[in-house]
Amino acid sequence: MVPETTVEVGPDALARELTDKGALTTDWLPAYSAVPRDRFVPDAIWPGRAGMNRQDDCVLRSEHPELWWRAVYTDAPITTQWDDGAHSGPGRGRTPSSSSSMPTMVFSMLDALSVEPGNQVLEIGTGTGWNAALLCHRLGDQNVVTVEVDAVLAAEARSRLFAADFAPEVVVGDGALGYGRRSPYDRVIATASVGNVPSQWIGQMHPGAIIVTPWGPVYGGEAVARLVVDEGGVASGRFIGSSAFMRLRQHRKNLPSTDRFLDTEKWPLDAARSGTTLSPDDVGDWICMFAIGVQVPDLYCRVTWGEEGSYRLWLFDTGVTSWASADYASGRAEFEVAQAGPRKLWEELEGAFWWWHQQGRPSFDRFGLTTRGGPTHKVWLDDPSNLVPVRRDA
Ligand SMILES: C[S@@+](CC[C@H](N)C(=O)[O-])C[C@H]1O[C@@H](n2cnc3c(N)ncnc32)[C@H](O)[C@@H]1O
Repeated sequence: MVPETTVEVGPDALARELTDKGALTTDWLPAYSAVPRDRFVPDAIWPGRAGMNRQDDCVLRSEHPELWWRAVYTDAPITTQWDDGAHSGPGRGRTPSSSSSMPTMVFSMLDALSVEPGNQVLEIGTGTGWNAALLCHRLGDQNVVTVEVDAVLAAEARSRLFAADFAPEVVVGDGALGYGRRSPYDRVIATASVGNVPSQWIGQMHPGAIIVTPWGPVYGGEAVARLVVDEGGVASGRFIGSSAFMRLRQHRKNLPSTDRFLDTEKWPLDAARSGTTLSPDDVGDWICMFAIGVQVPDLYCRVTWGEEGSYRLWLFDTGVTSWASADYASGRAEFEVAQAGPRKLWEELEGAFWWWHQQGRPSFDRFGLTTRGGPTHKVWLDDPSNLVPVRRDA
């Protein structure tokens, strides 16, 4: 039932907003209108904010129907599961593990998928089932397969899809493996991010097929890639814009715990001290992190906070050989750096930053990706022949 006091907040107002933003195109409007988001969002939700990795406290539809409705018809992501289902609220858990993605992102990715009638589509990450339902409305149930790693979420999505008169094949499994039984596909759309494109996806696709997937390096930064698969099994294309999806379970970063290493003698303790004029604050934007992460694939970072907005940016390598830190405090022109171990991680970061700066600080849509699948890939700038330098192999 639609709450009476929120007539201004609802599917029509959100449709106008998404259309104005250029995300909801006329060819997806019928699916949007026929498949309301509220039929796919569960009763207990943790509303998110656009562009921010923050969630509000749990909202129960049964207790606060107006708040729930407002969240569903706001252009923002909604967390629907934490910690792979281990946490049920009412507060927030540690890590969001399923969500109803931000509507702008949903329709931008569907638009990038460029579906045509009769296309066979594989979706990775069923979640609530909303995206699968939109695809079914556009292409027909028989052309949509969706894979969800979490059996409980898959069962709930299946029931919601059934209640809305859709019956795509909902598979419980590891979407990193694709789903060979229904291949070859014309389109693959992933709604969880990857660190590399699984070779199974490419192997299960026709030449000319399109993959739309969020992709991001270990260091941070992430964007949606739109790749076309060629006759030789190479997928290549540009990034279409920034994103911040949860990682595919098998692609989670699982970074070494730095606390553990800092406490042992194995970790190099003698640090060389120096100064830098590059502020740690200038290397923290999502796109800048992406450019650094592509060039130094095994670099990761952590921040520890001090007083009055000061902080220490820590750098580590996933092989756990070296560390560096850079101290930020406002109003400074120079920042103290410490580097320990065989690698000079701050210098590697600076080299990557200055390369990006010298290219004119390109945005995500100037970058592209070429891959045969698996850990080997090439990231390029403007043209596939202009490769982004990799300063250190992962
Ligand atoms: C952002 S949510 C998907 C949103 C969904 N498309 C919707 O319309 O609600 C990401 C989903 O990917 C699932 N997931 C994570 N790793 C997976 C994997 N290896 N295979 C399949 N699904 C996975 C998560 O359980 C989660 O439900």
